[in-house]
Amino acid sequence: MPGLRSDQWYSGDDRNAYIHRAWMRRGVPGNAFEGRPQIAIANTASDLTPCNMHLGEVAQSVKNGIYEAGGIPLELPVVSLGETQVRPTAMLWRNMAAMATEEMLRANPIDGVVLLGGCDKTIPSLLMAAASVDLPALVVPGGPMLTGHFKGRPLGCGTDVWRLSEEVRAGTLSQEEFVQSESATIRSKGHCNTMGTASTMGLLAEALGMVIPGTAGIPAPDSRLLEASHGAGRMAVEMVREGRKPSDVLSAGSFRNAIVALAAIGGSTNAVVHLLAIAGRLGIDLSLEDFDRIGSRVPLLVDLLPAGRFLMDDLYRAGGLLAVLRQVEDLLDPEALTVDGRSLVSHLEGNEIWDREVIRPREDAMLQEGGIAVLTGNLAPAGAVIKPAAASPHLLKHRGRAVVFDSIEDFHARVDDPDLDIDADSVMVLRGCGPKGYPGMPEVSNMPLPTKLLEQGVRDVVRICDGRMSGTAYGTVILHVAPEAAAGGPLGLVRTGDWIELDVEGRTLRVDLPDEELAARAPSPEAVAAFAAPTRGWERLYVDHVLQADTGADLDFLVGSSGPDVSRESH
Ligand code: FES
Repeated sequence: MPGLRSDQWYSGDDRNAYIHRAWMRRGVPGNAFEGRPQIAIANTASDLTPCNMHLGEVAQSVKNGIYEAGGIPLELPVVSLGETQVRPTAMLWRNMAAMATEEMLRANPIDGVVLLGGCDKTIPSLLMAAASVDLPALVVPGGPMLTGHFKGRPLGCGTDVWRLSEEVRAGTLSQEEFVQSESATIRSKGHCNTMGTASTMGLLAEALGMVIPGTAGIPAPDSRLLEASHGAGRMAVEMVREGRKPSDVLSAGSFRNAIVALAAIGGSTNAVVHLLAIAGRLGIDLSLEDFDRIGSRVPLLVDLLPAGRFLMDDLYRAGGLLAVLRQVEDLLDPEALTVDGRSLVSHLEGNEIWDREVIRPREDAMLQEGGIAVLTGNLAPAGAVIKPAAASPHLLKHRGRAVVFDSIEDFHARVDDPDLDIDADSVMVLRGCGPKGYPGMPEVSNMPLPTKLLEQGVRDVVRICDGRMSGTAYGTVILHVAPEAAAGGPLGLVRTGDWIELDVEGRTLRVDLPDEELAARAPSPEAVAAFAAPTRGWERLYVDHVLQADTGADLDFLVGSSGPDVSRESH
């Protein structure tokens, strides 16, 4: 085993080593500092992150595994983000969580880390941090909740909230029934059970190689999660002994595998931003175009909400991610590794599909091209994304008149105005929702439709936004438009009544205006007024340094790695 990093704190007989050891001697074994790997458990458990509340129990199993393998477990609570609770949007704090976790991993006497996450931003922030510190690391995804039911129907949390609330607005569900469904939505511990961002990022962490293969997607209450957690503790010790770091595990091929997995599972569009940010920390050249180039050939195999019918515990009983990946093995990078030092593809043999309704065999794919499409054109010079599997087929090629909203507040104020000039062919445009503009790039792109359209039976129109969309949402929504309006992007120049052209097959998004007309326009005074740059604190730092969505919306000074070294000592 190579020399331990923690020896820099604990070995020797001088005053500094004395101080470091003495304060840690609180019941640990006497030989705790004699060459035993010190393993942090970076834990995002929090009562205010309900999807991660159970991670204390998970941490206990991880600790048992670390002890059993000869290491010393050290729980390290890190910044946690509850997607449904944190205002104005959890994405504003992803980079802060990543930065704080990175610094605490580097600052402390640890040799490796087990990362415990679940709710949407937690696994991305942990992976960004681990990539920048580059100590041996692996993820234990906290797992999805069990399926709740209402009136005999399974409820997909997130997705069915949108559906039920739209039904109330359309007059097909009473307000009383809507409130009744609330207590049925969250049946157990765990994160959202649809193929939302949390499910997606847990599975993609495994596709990247950063999870013990076969363990992402285990439902949170399933006892196999604790067994997997025990194994993760043992694995962390092994990784330290063998010097296996994120920069050894994660390669361009790992990201290829994640993109293939993202398409095959019909994962969240948010994964695009998160994977770009993680790759940026590793210096891996990954671009928005790679998602289209690699992902567009990949069949959609998983029939889960929001694009399909089933939920996450169905996916696990049907065979889980490895059964899905086995169907597309030829599209995967055969060399890309996992945390155990073996290739991902070496884990695929024997993984059968146990329910062919939930996981489709490749020859019976839900869609032959399930990936995320990347659009460019004079409305999105640096790109925008759409998830065709969640869109209405008849709208994938469309020309319609823009109805523009300058901010989410402007949208709420006018969407149900009876005088709003909008019809089923209109294109709803919402700006001021990008990384800088909101700030924090909230999940508002799937704008609810005006009540008058719902009453006419319209259930989808083309929507365009510089923000994000919940992974549990659906519709013909073009999002992550870059550059955003607040960064001078042309989305800020569109006016109500302009004609917008969408061609998903042709990968274009245009406003039908000559270049000279666009160049001559200034942003609307309302759009400028809606962007009031914060004056202090994290929001100020964020707005001054955040990058655009097409490169992952990380902060410019956080891209890359600083490694694990700390050269100075305060004692
Ligand atoms: Fe936490 Fe959906 S709110 S995963």
